[in-house]
Amino acid sequence: MAGEHAHKGHRHGHGEQRSGVAVGVLTCSDRGARGERADVGGPTVHNLVLDRIPGAKVTQYKVVPDDREQISSTLIAWADDERLDLILTTGGTGLAPSDVTPEATHAVIDRAVPAFSMAMLFESLRVTPYAMLTRAAAGVRGKTLIINLPGNPKAIQENLDAIIEVLPHAVQIVRGEDTHAEGGGGGHKDHADHAGHGGGHREHHAKHDDHAAAAHGHEQHGGGHEEHEPAADRGGIARNVGGPPC
Ligand code: MTE
Repeated sequence: MAGEHAHKGHRHGHGEQRSGVAVGVLTCSDRGARGERADVGGPTVHNLVLDRIPGAKVTQYKVVPDDREQISSTLIAWADDERLDLILTTGGTGLAPSDVTPEATHAVIDRAVPAFSMAMLFESLRVTPYAMLTRAAAGVRGKTLIINLPGNPKAIQENLDAIIEVLPHAVQIVRGEDTHAEGGGGGHKDHADHAGHGGGHREHHAKHDDHAAAAHGHEQHGGGHEEHEPAADRGGIARNVGGPPC
């Protein structure tokens, strides 16, 4: 953990609502940093963020080597100076000696949020047992939520699928916004109407806005899945058909 350190104040005070989610994408890869391999993880994260987090803007992007110091110092700069809402790292979460992203993350966060990593692992294990080879971490530094993702695009998609619908609300809470405020409830209506739909289903969103998906008891689509499969049946994460309860 980071221990005591002075965070610069965020521009927005407690209870103040802010639209938009400022996101940083940090690729951790020796070969990517040396220019020996094109970064595919970073653009994958970028596209998923733009597609699936309402109001998100990727305002910072960087490729760094698997180096604790460089990863940690970038996370600190993006959290404290750039005041990003969300930082998604990709790569360097595995068991190889060079994989240090989780350690670099733990070194700078104030509070761990292990449930994000657990949710991603839980859903990923339904796809591949090799998911257990990630040590991805998640936590909060100041008012910035930091989440590690694996490096390969398929793994990124599968991991983000598990948590992405919760991220807008999580960001609001981390920012200290009053998610219960009258009229500014942080997109509760949005959540309720959009509940049960994964990525790439913008047209579905529009349709289901009209049909009150929650009332119909529709459950979550995973990214790219077309069939309606209730979470209870497939044993996955319960999808929030009623909007955030907090
Ligand atoms: N998670 C999902 N959902 N799908 C995957 O294919 N690959 C695993 C794991 N997590 C995978 C996954 C593998 S093979 C590795 S080595 C670890 O993520 C760590 O990946 P990283 O070193 O690129 O961070």
